[in-house]
Amino acid sequence: MPASFDTLVLNAQIATAADLYLADIGIKDGRITAIGTGLGSAADTIDARGRLVTPGGVDAHCHLDQPTGDGSRMADDFLTGTRSAACGGTTTVIPFAAQFKGHSLRAAVDDYHRRAEGKATIDYAFHLIVSDPSPLVLTQELPQLVAEGYTSFKVYMTYDELKLDDRQILDLLSVARQEGAMVMVHAENADCIAWLTEQMLDAGLSAPRYHAHARPMLIEREATHRAIALAELADVPILVVHVSGRDAVRQIRHAQGMGLKVYAETCPQYLFLTAESLELEGFEGAKCICSPPPRDKANQEVIWHGLDNGTFQLLSSDHAPFTFGGPTGKQVNGPNASFDKVPNGIPGLETRMPLLMSHGVAGGRIDVHQFVALTSTNAAKLYGLFPRKGTIAVGSDADIVIWDTDQPRTIRNELLHHAVDYTPYEGIEVTAWPAITLSRGVVVWQDGHYLGRAGHGQFLRCERPTPARMRGRGYRGPLWRP
Ligand code: URP
Ligand code: ZN
Ligand code: ZN
Repeated sequence: MPASFDTLVLNAQIATAADLYLADIGIKDGRITAIGTGLGSAADTIDARGRLVTPGGVDAHCHLDQPTGDGSRMADDFLTGTRSAACGGTTTVIPFAAQFKGHSLRAAVDDYHRRAEGKATIDYAFHLIVSDPSPLVLTQELPQLVAEGYTSFKVYMTYDELKLDDRQILDLLSVARQEGAMVMVHAENADCIAWLTEQMLDAGLSAPRYHAHARPMLIEREATHRAIALAELADVPILVVHVSGRDAVRQIRHAQGMGLKVYAETCPQYLFLTAESLELEGFEGAKCICSPPPRDKANQEVIWHGLDNGTFQLLSSDHAPFTFGGPTGKQVNGPNASFDKVPNGIPGLETRMPLLMSHGVAGGRIDVHQFVALTSTNAAKLYGLFPRKGTIAVGSDADIVIWDTDQPRTIRNELLHHAVDYTPYEGIEVTAWPAITLSRGVVVWQDGHYLGRAGHGQFLRCERPTPARMRGRGYRGPLWRP
């Protein structure tokens, strides 16, 4: 008699965003087809006795092989980036197909598919970055792309080559409302940054540490407030990405308290790094240049609290991989470049889940259900991949992490699998790391060995997020509604 399953994961302590229970998981053709006990026979078995088993992570904010236009190059392509993700327990990534100003959005999507195909080792979807909301983009490309499974787009309020003004953001929010798409916002005030940067450079303050001084919290606060107001006016939800500290958190809490659908994401750099991380000797501080910048210990506490009290729905890596050495990374403009000429972003795909499991769950700051929600389930729900991704349930893809939770180790870049020559988390102790990662039923990481294959990863078309998540509160002002 043929085996009922390809794989049985036995004696799993299954944790989802809602439940914790002991059961076996039956996997057939990449999907979970049964959960229970005494399920029958399988070609392969994995004994998970005594181990926590969670859904594979969904990293809904990472940058892989994204064209930059300033001579720099991302170190990770879809092969090395997804490999690194898998080794850290992430089984789905959502990087960004980025439009260049003056170019078509469709062309950016086609190009990004070529970059991913045959390379991705785990499943992937795309967000869009809209840098040029022309009439063609707004009326034709975006509606078509949303219908084809690209249901989220990011708008930037900073970076000269990407930023949109308020009017353009309103136009995009309006398309999002009409098409049922999710708008992610990078909230920093570009003019304030430019003004401060100019003053600092005039005063000779150009070292990496001044990146943090040029982007203080109030410029994130102002932009967050403005983004929320624009979304309220357009009567559509937004998702504020990579929130760094107290000021933005207060704006988001206030909006959430008013009943607005304002979702929020934070990242490990705001829990584990501070502005002091940019003060390393010489140019080394450039390793931690990212935007918004990390703040201070007190703000780390605010972010931890926000993970626990529901302000944040997502913990993503914002993996933006540039090497420290070499001519196309952090030193693309030379080893003494001023802070404003250093590519922004830090790597973190592989360390995201172990850091949160170790310091969040084992550290007693959040429970395991919050961990699953923040690293997997909520991203799948907000970006239209649930229940295929983001949970352990019959019918879901067999994306599963079996955890090792009692083997302390120290994060060292040489142990990671990305193509970046450093990790900003070097030296941080963790107590948890995936023992086994399964991607659609295939073991891609086991006991310290990467077993994945380029091309195993499949492109995922995202559904529109569920209507309840997408309904605006309804703009309450006295104005005529478009
Ligand atoms: O510094 C960062 N965060 N770089 C990545 C691009 C972005 O804004 O997310
Ligand atoms: Zn951003
Ligand atoms: Zn980013």
